[in-house]
Amino acid sequence: MRMRIDPVTYTPFHEALYDLRVRDAMSKNLIVLGPEATMLDAQIAMRDHRISGIPIVIDGDKLVGLVSIQDVIEALVANDIHAPVGKWMTEKVYTVREKIPLIQAVKELQKRGFGRLPVLNAEDRLVGMLTNNDVTRAVMLRLNEEARAAEQREADLMARSMSATQERPGIERIEIRVEPMDLDAAGTFAGLVKKAVKKRGVSPDVARRAAIAAYEAEVNVILHSMGGILEAFLSDQDITILSRDRGPGIPNVDEAMKEGFSTANEVVRALGFGAGMGLPNMKRCSDEFSISAPASGTTVTMKILFNPPSQATHQENATEEKT
Ligand SMILES: Nc1ncnc2c1ncn2[C@@H]1O[C@H](COP(=O)(O)OP(=O)(O)OP(=O)(O)O)[C@@H](O)[C@H]1O
Ligand SMILES: [Mg+2]
Repeated sequence: MRMRIDPVTYTPFHEALYDLRVRDAMSKNLIVLGPEATMLDAQIAMRDHRISGIPIVIDGDKLVGLVSIQDVIEALVANDIHAPVGKWMTEKVYTVREKIPLIQAVKELQKRGFGRLPVLNAEDRLVGMLTNNDVTRAVMLRLNEEARAAEQREADLMARSMSATQERPGIERIEIRVEPMDLDAAGTFAGLVKKAVKKRGVSPDVARRAAIAAYEAEVNVILHSMGGILEAFLSDQDITILSRDRGPGIPNVDEAMKEGFSTANEVVRALGFGAGMGLPNMKRCSDEFSISAPASGTTVTMKILFNPPSQATHQENATEEKT
């Protein structure tokens, strides 16, 4: 299930999940077997390497199945441990792409209750495995890096504090074009937005809300539209995120704004999208939100204040939407 993102409890841990990609976290030391290996071979490999699943490949890296401990147990019970793994392996294997944001893979692991997911590259070749442990390790490393960078920034700020008031950035504009279904590009716009707001010294809460709003808008244009343009305008006081696409629009906007409403198909859901939380999260993260979605194209405008009057406003929004 998609996490319900509350900007107040949304932590740096979640933030790292949005920043990292699967390939940053996956383990590349692959233990694989060919389909002619026996279930006993699989059992021994699992024991020796302390792993709970082994990808079965042909031609070195073309995934054809997965043998889990469960499969080994079943073969043992059937007194068939010398059978080739091809006979017992699971053939319909859920996989993730190396370039998707880690958050999507985590949702996939949670949703399916799997311990591990094989990772494929754009050519459908097996390039790694992703477990919950891999995710935790990658996030911890990232948080360490960030903590160190934060210490450094603080030191720099102290050093510069005398002259800081002389710098006054004006209006800044970010723009990217988005092609339909280009999921590898998901997160590009959100990354630029986050960098730009952080540069302005906004609070971490404001930076996260801007990044989430930008990310969800970006993914919606990629997944649901025929392509479009995402823009962000930063002033001294706020950021306005503008998402415009070429259609097909949204027939019933009130319905689309509800938590859990999604028209995403099986393929999209298998990638971890389509929980119907994007638009509600965008609204919750914004101080001002508007959407219009005629067939000629959807336009979403979101404004986020750099110095919001109080965080309570967002909490109230959240409560309002639940009822
Ligand atoms: N730019 C768009 N163009 C056309 N339809 C859209 C657009 N954005 C959203 N929708 C429609 O609104 C629905 C709800 O969007 P929302 O972002 O809340 O959920 P989702 O994208 O389906 O899933 P999630 O965002 O949780 O991965 C979508 O399923 C889609 O039908
Ligand atoms: Mg969405």
